[in-house]
Amino acid sequence: MNTKSPVPSVPVPSASAFLPGDPSISKEGIPLLDIKDLKVSFPDENGTVKPIYRVDLTVKANETLGLIGESGSGKSILGLSILRLLPGDAEVGGKILFKGQDLLSMPSTELRKIRGREIGMVFQNPAASLDPIFTVGGQLSEATRVHFAFDKNAVKARVLGLLDRVSIKDPALRFGQYPHELSGGMKQRVMIATGIASEPSLIIADEPTRGLDVTVKRRIISLMQKISRDTAMLLVTHDLEVAEQLCDRVAVMYAGEIVEIAGCEEFFKAPLHPFSEGLLNSLPSRGMHAIPGTSPSLIDLPSGCRFYPRCRYSMDICRTRHPELVPVDNAVDGAVNGDMNAFFDAGRLVRCFLYA
Ligand SMILES: Nc1ncnc2c1ncn2[C@@H]1O[C@H](COP(=O)(O)OP(=O)(O)O)[C@@H](O)[C@H]1O
Ligand code: SF4
Ligand SMILES: [Mg+2]
Repeated sequence: MNTKSPVPSVPVPSASAFLPGDPSISKEGIPLLDIKDLKVSFPDENGTVKPIYRVDLTVKANETLGLIGESGSGKSILGLSILRLLPGDAEVGGKILFKGQDLLSMPSTELRKIRGREIGMVFQNPAASLDPIFTVGGQLSEATRVHFAFDKNAVKARVLGLLDRVSIKDPALRFGQYPHELSGGMKQRVMIATGIASEPSLIIADEPTRGLDVTVKRRIISLMQKISRDTAMLLVTHDLEVAEQLCDRVAVMYAGEIVEIAGCEEFFKAPLHPFSEGLLNSLPSRGMHAIPGTSPSLIDLPSGCRFYPRCRYSMDICRTRHPELVPVDNAVDGAVNGDMNAFFDAGRLVRCFLYA
């Protein structure tokens, strides 16, 4: 079934509004998502928890950017902060520009038009996110009605199309069923259908394969691959296998900071930051060598490199000085030679004194 057949009543600003030659830049010269100097903190009885510290990140139109790292490094907080979905006590600083507009400072009424409409969310844990007292069709119809003023029959046709698009067999049967009647994999497909219901130009997916068995995980990866052909995606995952199969670029988080940004292929071939190297070495296919130690407390962060106590390459400078996220040499060379496109294409950034 063609999900695009019913015509939305509101014009959809789509990713195709962005120039094909340079997918990061729109016709107006604006990146799709541009996170600038993002800081998030929470007051705590023991001090201030700082899960995000000075994060700069860009998602280009039509690309899939993977946000990877250990559990507790701030990935979900970053994803939630984009749509201002953090708890009320969170203090958020910086800018999050979506098509040039700052999501953090715009009025809530404006943000509501973007949330779920131009930016779709696929949350982790579908069992908790789907409402047990509403049918699958009811929940998806609601998500569809909120964004498009279709009549009842058109909404149903659109929802059946969505279920078909996420490869749920027998959509008419599933339409009338409740979440508990669905398998884990099917629930996750319904969550994905909710995320894409409005044909957003950006999807934020947080651990979309967590808790799924290997076979179901493979199917969800293949579904996400299909969806990512039309939509930009910020994929939050601790699962490197998922990132490798889905992403165009990866950004590695460690203790609230980005420590490396690289093209996916070059990253998996040759990670540069020592933490990235440790992450890859902990994969079963690479010997399962766990990184010794634990990440620092987000209340009492060290003044030097945050990875210092766990790093096998640490030097004296790393203990006292905090490294910046800087382009690695080959990218800088490209820029110095006047080829700014080479600089952006290479776009490899590392926060480590080994490369500074
Ligand atoms: N509401 C909150 N108050 C205080 N700390 C929080 C809150 N929510 C999350 N954190 C802390 O922020 C850190 C990052 O969390 P999160 O983004 O969920 O990590 P992950 O990378 O696993 O997604 C964790 O250490 C977590 O304990
Ligand atoms: S800055 Fe130093 S301690 Fe930090 S990752 Fe690089 S080498 Fe290791
Ligand atoms: Mg998380």
